[in-house]
Amino acid sequence: AVYEATASAPVNIACIKYWGKRDTKLILPTNSSLSVTLDQDHLRSTTTSRADPSFTEDRLWLNGKEEEIKEGGRTATCIAEMKRLRKQEVEDKQPNEPKVKNHPHHAPQILRSDHLGLQLSTHHVHIASFNNFPTAAGLASSASGFAALVSSLAQLYKLPVSPSTLSLIARQGSGSACRSLFGGFVAWEQGTLPDGSDSLAVEVAPQSHWPDMHALICVVSDDKKGTSSTSGMQRTVETSPLLQHRIKHVVPQRMADISAAIRARDFDKFAEITMRDSNQFHAVALDTEPPIFYMNDVSRAIIALIVEYNRVSVEKGLGRKAAYTYDAGPNAVIYTLKENVKEIVELILKYFPQREGAFKDVFGLLGGVDV
Ligand code: DP6
Repeated sequence: AVYEATASAPVNIACIKYWGKRDTKLILPTNSSLSVTLDQDHLRSTTTSRADPSFTEDRLWLNGKEEEIKEGGRTATCIAEMKRLRKQEVEDKQPNEPKVKNHPHHAPQILRSDHLGLQLSTHHVHIASFNNFPTAAGLASSASGFAALVSSLAQLYKLPVSPSTLSLIARQGSGSACRSLFGGFVAWEQGTLPDGSDSLAVEVAPQSHWPDMHALICVVSDDKKGTSSTSGMQRTVETSPLLQHRIKHVVPQRMADISAAIRARDFDKFAEITMRDSNQFHAVALDTEPPIFYMNDVSRAIIALIVEYNRVSVEKGLGRKAAYTYDAGPNAVIYTLKENVKEIVELILKYFPQREGAFKDVFGLLGGVDV
């Protein structure tokens, strides 16, 4: 029999950025982070996992092209961890039942589920994943990719585990992936334990708490980025004194303040913190030796536009109406409330007419992983 399951997971965009690891193998961060998960319809990965006794090895296809699963690499780790959870689950459920290996002809009734259960985690898997957006353009494809991979295996193995438990495994695929296990507003708590068992994603608020929150993705370029997040952040850890200041004296307070702003639906505060944190992330990139630049002239011009837009609004006593944020690439994500979306899209198209069609508006921020 072929067992198959499909799951889909959206991209998340951080307001408080994850940048730096204290453990590169387990992917444990140097600071906590917080993000918003986009809705299911737009930027997402859809992954199908299959287990079959005839498969001779684990294999992976990304957007139709086969990729090597490197031994001891991130994908191999996620698959191994999911198989381990499945084994554990089956053994916990039937601790005293005879195992298939030892009693091949015993008690067919029980053996059947035991047999299937144990065998399923020993079968090799074939995994196919598709993104509905360009990979490695600074649009966080690894986040949705690993979240969908782990979710599809959880579904295949029928694991009754929480998103936080799955986030521990997705984290080992790509740090930011752990946050895509939840919809809405999500924190990745850095944790303190050396084994990483407390470095996981938790829900700050569901999407329904602030349904007017929208994200506008401005695709400035869909080229492959220069310095990958993984290598860039390690260089920052090794060379940037500013990062040490950031992780000790800035991020803890920001995590508390932005969580409070989200709970209070205080957009002005949310916007202030989000923009400051994007700025500081790009400052630590610049403080890296040699320096890393992710934003380009168009990115900076969009910042200027949003700053001016907010200045006018603040002057009218209305507070900030938009927040820009940039990850490891030049594309802008603009958070705003529903009532301002149209105005901001028009504004951007007015100042960047040549970019018409290059901006993708993403409405609503629904659910996390949709199985
Ligand atoms: C700038 O999660 O891609 O998007 O853990 O090495 O896979 P690895 O890095 P990754 O880094 C994301 C960095 C960021 C900020 C963020 O999403 O918090």
